[in-house]
Amino acid sequence: MILRSVSELPIKQGDRVLVRVDYNIPVNPEGLITDDARIKGTLDTLGYLLERGAVPIILSHWGRPQGGPQPDMSLARVLPELQTLLNHPVNFLSESLNDVTKASIDAAHPAEIFLLENLRFHPGERQNDPQFAKKLASYGSYYVNDAFPVSHREQASVSLLPTLFADPAAGFSLIREVEYFSRLIHAPARPYVVIIGGKKIQDKVRSLRFLLDKVDEVLVGGGSSYTVQVTRGLPMGLSIVDEDLVDEIDDIADSPKVKLPIDYIAAPTYAEPKKKKVVRADAFPDDLEGFDIGPETRKAFASSISRAKTVLWFGPLGAYEERAFAEGSLEVAKAVVAATERGATTVTGGGDSLAMLRAFDFKDKLTHVSIGGGACLKFLEGNKLPGIVPLIKER
Ligand code: 3PG
Repeated sequence: MILRSVSELPIKQGDRVLVRVDYNIPVNPEGLITDDARIKGTLDTLGYLLERGAVPIILSHWGRPQGGPQPDMSLARVLPELQTLLNHPVNFLSESLNDVTKASIDAAHPAEIFLLENLRFHPGERQNDPQFAKKLASYGSYYVNDAFPVSHREQASVSLLPTLFADPAAGFSLIREVEYFSRLIHAPARPYVVIIGGKKIQDKVRSLRFLLDKVDEVLVGGGSSYTVQVTRGLPMGLSIVDEDLVDEIDDIADSPKVKLPIDYIAAPTYAEPKKKKVVRADAFPDDLEGFDIGPETRKAFASSISRAKTVLWFGPLGAYEERAFAEGSLEVAKAVVAATERGATTVTGGGDSLAMLRAFDFKDKLTHVSIGGGACLKFLEGNKLPGIVPLIKER
């Protein structure tokens, strides 16, 4: 899949360019940004446009506001960080649809830049409303999507707005994401190992099914593994199991490519790490809960990863936030970093994986860390994402 790039647009000084980004970024209870990766991801595209004297008009959503503007969901929160990282002043327009917005944009000088307020303050955004899309389209002559994380949504500024332009284009971050994920589907170097962890396997079942015949091995750990073990007929004590899925994933549980933990670190509760012990998967005590993969499993997983030329990783392999349960995720992370260093392509995505890599200080040590979560999984389910389809130049 080849996308039309922003670099192919005949942009001249003063051209107004709508740039859809995803600044839906995590903040702490005090409202401070805890991860700026999604802002950093857009700097190449914005810098490219500013160098050409264009006027970028940044469009984004934040959170899921219900029924109109909510001050605690204003995009004004990203302004200081954006200006610092871009090293350029940014005008904030607190209303996306009125005449003042249009007049300010029309009066802009070359290389002025605007950030519009949270698009989801308007119901038209999530309702995919053509009138809302038309209004946004009237602000610019070009459209660029640099918002991979929201490209799976059928929403006005994502899927409809690009269709109102003759040559909607992709920004540099979106192009990188699509290149890596397309390669994971169509041309992975082998052996190709997928690591699935995280609390819930439910979100990953479709991607797993789609990938199963494309990969060589799937290592399942963390919360995801208990449901698969129970499907295979092994009781997992007090570990959290998605009972609704147990009868639905025989194909995954029975696949010879799927490798499950042979041992675990278990404890009576999360709050009692001192009582942890190593237990065998085929003799899991009734009164314990699993919180990490065990030492034999760590070795087996690391050995598979050491042979891999492509590694795709979603989700921690244990409750790594508690040091006593972090060893499995850490050992596997070290193996993935070592694989990267010897030339394997290693890719991860999703908020949980990112937080884990940051906790281990490994965030910049993989080949590609996607800023997408749900969008990665949708892409890896083989879907054509509605925000990307209008940007395709060649299949
Ligand atoms: C994300 O963070 O996954 C995207 O910004 C999409 O957000 P949404 O799930 O609220 O549509």
